[in-house]
Amino acid sequence: MKTKQASPTIVRMRKFIDHELTALPVAGVNIGRFDEARHRLQAHLLLHSAYSNGLGYVPDVDPWWKGVSSDEEFDPALLTVAENESGEVIGFLHAWDSGFVKDVAVAASARRRGIGTALLNDIFHAFKRRGASRVDLKVMSTNYAAIALYKAAGMSVVNEVG
Ligand SMILES: CC(C)(COP(=O)(O)OP(=O)(O)OC[C@H]1O[C@@H](n2cnc3c(N)ncnc32)[C@H](O)[C@@H]1OP(=O)(O)O)[C@@H](O)C(=O)NCCC(=O)NCCS
Repeated sequence: MKTKQASPTIVRMRKFIDHELTALPVAGVNIGRFDEARHRLQAHLLLHSAYSNGLGYVPDVDPWWKGVSSDEEFDPALLTVAENESGEVIGFLHAWDSGFVKDVAVAASARRRGIGTALLNDIFHAFKRRGASRVDLKVMSTNYAAIALYKAAGMSVVNEVG
């Protein structure tokens, strides 16, 4: 007899940033600001590939970028890339100016090296400099890698919706 799998829920997680934050560099990786001309295509490709197993949805590059850049909470300073020594984008984070991380992804070949953590820490610092006291995000309850990353970065679950 087959056991019925529970449907995934959406989990809201939160990081309080009203205290000292530490950020560790990752060898050979540069964490910096997103530049549309240099990074748009690579960041889209990375997101598309990272979400291809059903963890999220990304439209084609033009509608994706139009959606990102025309959003009322868009601020280009809140898009962060991780580049390797050849200038290839191996990590990408997109946050809204309400203190919310919309997307974070690391290339499959570059995972478990601290890049996801470095991207999160970079954005926590950015929001702290803006005077925010917390940063939120949402994640599918079945995305165990992402939930483990967020917990390791000091985030905790706020609530879970079906
Ligand atoms: C989630 C994701 C961004 C993590 O990026 P990463 O660069 O591998 O994360 P880090 O190396 O900084 O991991 C930090 C810690 O998080 C936890 N962690 C990360 N990935 C994990 C995994 N697959 N399994 C268990 N724990 C994991 C570990 O505690 C890890 O520390 P450790 O390697 O010393 O054990 C990456 O797996 C990814 O791009 N996934 C697909 C896209 C996605 O799901 N994005 C999130 C949408 S909400």
